[in-house]
Amino acid sequence: MSSSIKRIGVLTGGGDCPGINAVIRAITKAAIYKHGVRVIGIEDGFLGLVENRIGELTSLHVAGIMTQGGTILGTNNRCNPSRFCTGTDAQGKPVFTDVTDRCLRHIEANKLDALIVIGGDGTMTCTAPLVDAGINCIGVPKTIDNDVEGTDVTFGFLTAVATATDALDRLHSTAMSHHRVMVCEVMGRNAGWIALHAGIASGSDVILIPEIAYRIETICRFVEGRMHRSRGFSIVACAEGARAVGGRQVVAQIDPTKPEPVKLGGVGQQLASEIEKLTGIESRTTVLGYIQRSGTPTAADRVLATQLGYRAMELLMTGAKGRMVVVRDGRLGDIELKRVVGRQRLVSTQDPLISAARAVRTCFGD
Ligand code: F6P
Repeated sequence: MSSSIKRIGVLTGGGDCPGINAVIRAITKAAIYKHGVRVIGIEDGFLGLVENRIGELTSLHVAGIMTQGGTILGTNNRCNPSRFCTGTDAQGKPVFTDVTDRCLRHIEANKLDALIVIGGDGTMTCTAPLVDAGINCIGVPKTIDNDVEGTDVTFGFLTAVATATDALDRLHSTAMSHHRVMVCEVMGRNAGWIALHAGIASGSDVILIPEIAYRIETICRFVEGRMHRSRGFSIVACAEGARAVGGRQVVAQIDPTKPEPVKLGGVGQQLASEIEKLTGIESRTTVLGYIQRSGTPTAADRVLATQLGYRAMELLMTGAKGRMVVVRDGRLGDIELKRVVGRQRLVSTQDPLISAARAVRTCFGD
């Protein structure tokens, strides 16, 4: 079957994450070698499409990038073309305008027959108006948070879990030597996937995730019990979105010009202070931050990224439109891209991993 697709655009949106370059490589090589399609890289996510910052990707551009963290195209988590911030008004309030037309003009001017969009729910939300305008877009789900609706896993997540697990493993030695409570705050936004997986992998004593509100008294009783009866230290794996029963998530910053204005952060420090105050046990915090997003992807993420990039190209060339590649029950598939918009895949409190963790006496603070 011969396809009308001769030139495609590729962009990466939202926060960077390990494995993006491996996806770009897979798309570009499959496009050029298998399908004879030219690939046009769009710089800095949707901002590059709005500003027409675009350049061809050849096999040379993608050679040797599999192991590199970040994205060779650059990314941006501020630009939503249908709600584009043009500055502030006299009161200092952000002013937004719809620049979707500008994107459509640049797609036409660059003769792009389709777009492959690599990003999380925010990027898919930005893509939806282009799908509505008739542009053929294929999504590839990306985020360390693993919270994209419709897929069991996003690339980047497994690397973030490996990084967080390594940090939690290391914290054990200081915790043991000093008989301390060591709280490690990990990323994940409103989803507890990283904390849950890294917490289990490292044998953390307490795992706190946004989906299960905690009681500080429960945590204190638990770490005191360990102090007096068993090991004399405790490790707490805490998601940045964790919150107390009846309380709110701890916010580090609010930027109304961004599509996702709330930046979480600070719950780890708050917890360590409360635990120390209420139990008298010396407590410390480590905030892992961006090292979870940076650096070389694990082998598993490189394989996943290559599969997803390849599958995105196959979908395009077989005439699929407005779809996103997914992994369900270990198999590659695809769903309607717009299904992802405005949704987050959170940890279910019935998740078998939670039962397994509880069975080995992990405390979830509830
Ligand atoms: O979505 C990925 C993520 O790293 C979240 O885990 C975190 O809350 C957020 O991005 C941080 O965003 P920013 O790059 O804007 O600080």
